[in-house]
Amino acid sequence: MTQDELKRQVAEAALKYVKDVPIIGVGTGSTVNHFIDFLADIKQDFEGAVSSSRMSTERMQKIGIRVFDLNEVGDIEVYVDGADEVTPHKAMLKGGGGALTREKIVAAASKKFICIVDETKTVDVLGKFPLPVEVIPMSRSYVAREMVKLGGQPVLRMTKEGVPFISDNHCEILDVHNLNILDPIALEKTINNIPGVITCGLFAMRGADVVLIGAGDKVITR
Ligand code: 5RP
Repeated sequence: MTQDELKRQVAEAALKYVKDVPIIGVGTGSTVNHFIDFLADIKQDFEGAVSSSRMSTERMQKIGIRVFDLNEVGDIEVYVDGADEVTPHKAMLKGGGGALTREKIVAAASKKFICIVDETKTVDVLGKFPLPVEVIPMSRSYVAREMVKLGGQPVLRMTKEGVPFISDNHCEILDVHNLNILDPIALEKTINNIPGVITCGLFAMRGADVVLIGAGDKVITR
């Protein structure tokens, strides 16, 4: 199977976790895009979704899924999202798609986090994938210097057009390379405490509850 087929396989496996869930929390990314496409087939069975990005909102609205503002709903029963890396302890590194802050908010407001990944995303130690850190633009250089002190090499995320990537929250993203993240909870707290940081892509304080791994012949559940 190709990586995209593995993503589709694991996205389909997540459907059983949203049975009888009235409002579904929906993440962002190519794996989640498959999940949204599967939701189209069962859209009559739930009221709608809370979205973690403009991209997911547009995709859901296009196929007739109602998207609620998080402020309109109470706690969400289930949140389904992908990850760039996930450990056996269910800590994740996320934000490759630039939606980390809203993903973290919707995840925090959800009772259950179902992480859907293909088998290439499983790691023992986080950090091979550069860690996204969303920053208020005026703090970019200061935060970058703080990242160097932590042993990382920050690179400002750019678009294909050669201009800084701007998040849904009108902020910029530093992708921090070469961090060896042995204590993800401690590093998440440290980075999130730096003035100017909106949030970093470590999802360790609130990790996943269930990790589904698309592995071709089967879907592994952790
Ligand atoms: C977006 C994310 C995604 O979940 C993560 O980047 C994985 O993406 P994909 O499913 O495309 O591999 O955190 O901000």
